[in-house]
Amino acid sequence: METVVSGIRSTGNLHLGNYFGAIKNFLRMQDENKCYFFVADYHSLTTHPTPENLMNGVRQVIIEYLACGLDPEKCTLYVQSDVPQVTELYLLLNMNAYVGELERCTSFKEKIRKHPENINAGLLTYPTLMAADILLHRANKVPVGKDQEQHLEMTRTFGNRFNRMYNTEYFAEPTAFNFGTQLVKVPGLDGSGKMGKSEGEGNAIFLNDIEQVITKKIMRAVTDSGPTEPNQPKPEAIQNIFTIMKLVSKADTLEHFENAYNNCTIRYGDMKKQLAQDMNHFVAPFRERIWELQSNNAYIRSVIKMGKEKALESATKTVKEVREIVGFREI
Ligand code: TYM
Repeated sequence: METVVSGIRSTGNLHLGNYFGAIKNFLRMQDENKCYFFVADYHSLTTHPTPENLMNGVRQVIIEYLACGLDPEKCTLYVQSDVPQVTELYLLLNMNAYVGELERCTSFKEKIRKHPENINAGLLTYPTLMAADILLHRANKVPVGKDQEQHLEMTRTFGNRFNRMYNTEYFAEPTAFNFGTQLVKVPGLDGSGKMGKSEGEGNAIFLNDIEQVITKKIMRAVTDSGPTEPNQPKPEAIQNIFTIMKLVSKADTLEHFENAYNNCTIRYGDMKKQLAQDMNHFVAPFRERIWELQSNNAYIRSVIKMGKEKALESATKTVKEVREIVGFREI
């Protein structure tokens, strides 16, 4: 049995990228492993949400986790800030996290480029907090999308450095995990990059999007005037639509449009109509469960309470042992 940890930031609704990159794996892992899945609300503070937005964001991610099929009886489903032990581990790991390596982190460099007005120390040390989340339960598997690969590398660096420094083998080496052969990157609908909640209007399909919104987003997805010669490689924006179609459409639907592309008869309007229909079919059950859960406050509260108790148990034990190792002992 493996120990599994993963989290999602509480900064918005869950989208297709979160589902295929992370949650789909959570669902398969929760049956046979010791799983800790959490809402990363401390992490979301780097973008300064108001208290209301912070609370609503946490609630929404819990609801959407449940709507996806996470079972709070099988896994530990908790809110990061309910387990403040993680902040002590974060502090201890920060003592051996070097500014240079944190500055070189791709996600930090991207944040600087996009938001030069808000380069806070929380952003710089984001990978140490993430390492603390993972090491807090001494995990060895971390189901995440491709964009988190470097953070996992840093987690291993910090864990190994701690082990060397204190001459111990306390922390295992956690690896980024996916049931497929590779970590997943779901592209956005805007022609480039990845699907993400902060990538701009129309780039992401959210699990609670209504039918008209889904159709509109897909019909507006970036395409071009179509191939002029047979069997040519696809431009990025077109490849993205095929990649998304592969996730939600049947294999023969995809094959039909692959053939149409290769013999230059493809009509992107038709392809998008089909994709919108398949996407709506895929998203509808998630949306319905999300809407059902919205009004069930008592249940949501009980899930959060149960998760907190289970997560605290493991976190308290780790931090107690780490304190011992570091030298916080009775005088
Ligand atoms: P976040 O909230 O950005 O994303 C949550 C999960 O969804 C995956 N993901 C994607 N996968 C494939 N294609 C996409 N377009 C896509 N967009 C998002 C992410 O890879 C991630 O697995 N730092 C994390 C949250 C976190 C965490 C942790 C994760 C905090 N502590 C400890 C694992 C372990 C984040 O910002 O994810």
